[in-house]
Amino acid sequence: MNKKKEYDSVQKMITSLLEGENNLIANLANTTAVIFERFELLWVGFYFVSEAENQLVLGPFQGPLACTRINYGKGVCGTAWKDGEGIIVPDVDSFPGHIACSALSKSEIVIPIKKDGKVVAILDIDSEKNDEFNQDDLVELTKICKKLSFLF
Ligand code: SME
Repeated sequence: MNKKKEYDSVQKMITSLLEGENNLIANLANTTAVIFERFELLWVGFYFVSEAENQLVLGPFQGPLACTRINYGKGVCGTAWKDGEGIIVPDVDSFPGHIACSALSKSEIVIPIKKDGKVVAILDIDSEKNDEFNQDDLVELTKICKKLSFLF
């Protein structure tokens, strides 16, 4: 699979999905579907920041059942929220505090969505293969997260 080519097409598709539609859930749901179908992935989904509860709460996703809530600073997702930075995890067993929603997950990438500099949600992607994600994925997925930011 030519990932770069796939990403070019995924970027175009997401841009066109967002044109003329500003519903948060609808757009996030379709975004997970587009990414999930294009690449061989175990899980693609969003977690919403709940400031009041100091937790991430599960949003639209594709893939197996997932953890509903993640505490601030916990797991890969909670760490990305706390640090405000994307995280590539080549081997989930080597990430201290990784939360295993599925035993099948071997590698992971997590990107925060920011609105006015604050993290409002997290994009989380899991693969059944080790070392599935690299810097190019981080760049492309960060672009997607920036496109989605206006929805919040
Ligand atoms: N592995 C994540 C939890 C979310 S599931 O992978 C969908 C984490 O450590 O934050």
